[in-house]
Amino acid sequence: MTRARVCVIFVLASIATAQAASPGDAVRVEEAARVFELNSQSVTYAFGVNERGELQSVHWGGRLANSDVLPLVKAEKRHASFDLSTTTPQEYPGWGAGLFVEPALKVSFPDGNRDLVLHYDSYRVEGKRLLVQLKDLSRDVRVQLGYEVDPETGIVARSARIENHTGKDLVVVQAAAATWTLPAATDYVLYSLSGRWGAETNLDHRPVVPGQTVLESRRGSTGHQNNPWFALSHGEAAEEAGPVWFGELAWSGSWRITVEQDDKHRVRITGGYNPFDFSYRLAPGAALETPVFYAGYTAGGLGEASRLMHRFQLAHILPQAPQPRPRPVLYNSWEATQFNVNEAGQVRLAQMAAKIGVERFVVDDGWFGARDNDKAGLGDWTVNRRKFPNGLQPLIDKVHALGMDFGLWVEPEMVNPDSDLYRRHPDWVLNFPGRPRTEARNQLVLNLARQDVRDYVFHALDQLLTQNDIAFLKWDYNRNWSEPGWPEQKIQDQQKVYVDYVENLYWIMRRLRERHPKLEIESCSGGGGRVDLGIMSLTDEVWPSDNTDPFDRLSIQDGFTHAYTPAVMMAWVTDSPNWVNHRSTSLEYRFLSSMQGSLGIGADLTRWNAQDFETAARLVAEYKTIRTTVQQGRLFRLLSPRGGSQYSVTESVSADGQQAVLFAFLHSSSMLYPYPRIQLRGLEPEGRYRLRAIAGKLEEGSLEEASGAYWMSRGIDLQLAGDFQAAALVFERVASAK
Ligand code: DGJ
Repeated sequence: MTRARVCVIFVLASIATAQAASPGDAVRVEEAARVFELNSQSVTYAFGVNERGELQSVHWGGRLANSDVLPLVKAEKRHASFDLSTTTPQEYPGWGAGLFVEPALKVSFPDGNRDLVLHYDSYRVEGKRLLVQLKDLSRDVRVQLGYEVDPETGIVARSARIENHTGKDLVVVQAAAATWTLPAATDYVLYSLSGRWGAETNLDHRPVVPGQTVLESRRGSTGHQNNPWFALSHGEAAEEAGPVWFGELAWSGSWRITVEQDDKHRVRITGGYNPFDFSYRLAPGAALETPVFYAGYTAGGLGEASRLMHRFQLAHILPQAPQPRPRPVLYNSWEATQFNVNEAGQVRLAQMAAKIGVERFVVDDGWFGARDNDKAGLGDWTVNRRKFPNGLQPLIDKVHALGMDFGLWVEPEMVNPDSDLYRRHPDWVLNFPGRPRTEARNQLVLNLARQDVRDYVFHALDQLLTQNDIAFLKWDYNRNWSEPGWPEQKIQDQQKVYVDYVENLYWIMRRLRERHPKLEIESCSGGGGRVDLGIMSLTDEVWPSDNTDPFDRLSIQDGFTHAYTPAVMMAWVTDSPNWVNHRSTSLEYRFLSSMQGSLGIGADLTRWNAQDFETAARLVAEYKTIRTTVQQGRLFRLLSPRGGSQYSVTESVSADGQQAVLFAFLHSSSMLYPYPRIQLRGLEPEGRYRLRAIAGKLEEGSLEEASGAYWMSRGIDLQLAGDFQAAALVFERVASAK
């Protein structure tokens, strides 16, 4: 039987400008059938209400045709008495009525009832958002699901607002932002990013088998161990072809993403607050708003999944979206001086940095309080007058006179027990009374969930930024939580610390940015321990790793770009041998590795010779001609450095298609084998491109100008041999030959 398609279509304001879905169908509601569709040019996300009143997933994948009429949504048949609610792939399942898969929401009521069955109640469209309200079948618990699709990338933003209208307290013990469902298949492969300090963003993959795989942080912050990103493919994903579903959670506290294959081989991905040690009491009338879980689909492999995310982050997530300013070339003194900073030494470094074209000079740890090492001073955000007798301004003035802006390191959420702040307020740290306070790097975590602590941190930073001309803060965070107690809070509310801490952190950053509109911030957590879409919406760049070895960085950067845009990926050129692994590499190799992201220099310039300055000045100047392409262009990972590969090649194509930049690295050549031929991607086949080498040599007889078709089909041969060699090539589009 066919059903006529009678639907309500909501025209989104942005559709007219985006080359997107056909105008007017980004949000489509078939009221009679109670089916909701979110559309972009190439993706459809659809769900609907079944005959039991449950909200159920219908389709997430390639774009459906406008002429398609989705069938009525039917709850799945139970085949046996053992199949209860679990059989239906619900959009946001409450734990109740026999749900054996991961719930999105689990609550407990004061009378001991813990059963929650969420049914569809109503919907409305507010601006670009579709809001669908669910309600428990008998108690007035409402869940408002928010949906918004980006018409350009097809990335869907989902979140949930849990409201208590029961007139009595209720406790949320588990709350996800969303559950995403993929159809039954037995060949799914899950990709994720894992690591530890100094070894972040390794790309892992594993087959999805019945049961759960849990990606999580219980650390109070995002963490190095797993990053809140996933991708799923049928079989092992190809880099540039095949269906890939991918997603990222925008939360900088403890989080969990559960990838579960149910007993019908459907995959459900549920992500939000980590339920471990979690509890959030909702008083009558109160609400809990979850973080946002973003996810997308592409038929173009892991490479296209990354490019869609990069574009989405540049256009919608970063504080300067939709047109983030390209990152300035930065100098940071940390590896050169450690804590031994003072005005004369920093001025000397600044003069040298200016000579090679640096645009931002950053003083790292050691400028404040009694901070001569990591044992004291954290929390006391006043300038150390022994090191800077007249405060920071004289240094800042000199930095400005040299043509650079000024940045400063802070670690505002931490305190050393040996500090004036801790002596005044020992109760301000996370702690369980009467229990040891476990220190890491001699520091404790301030309980930012407390309003007085939040206000102290805000005022200390606000004052610093008001009194000094500071363009940039490197915001560090060098340990994870232990003993996460909040003794001043009512016992039943103490575990709110997991939410309130992070919300207050966001509040501080947001307010600082409002009060100091030119301020830019870098998120650093002993390297890449706090990189996620939540912090990214308030920071302009991130520090992917303390590991600055240029070879190790190739893999870290490769993993990083699966989830995050190179526009935020800070990469410093530091000294050789590297402090992490004592590996020696040439200055040119170090530069080329760092030029794949947002270029910084962290070497001890006082040890450089004239040749080093010349090389650096040349490469910084070259970088400035390609940085917009590298940071904001379309990235193609042509050869991966993973898995012990000898080679690594990336290519970035500028948004306007006028420039392509290629970096090629050789770990170690053997037995006279040539470097693999490189075929480019993303060029205009009929366009003409002139080739220029920033570094490295081409095989003899290579063309200097050719069509996009030639560079993509025939490709180029590099002369790279030996250990730790690298090349960088630029392809500029020229007017076509007559
Ligand atoms: C850890 C950071 O990742 C480093 O770059 C440096 O800022 C130190 N902290 C300073 O203590």
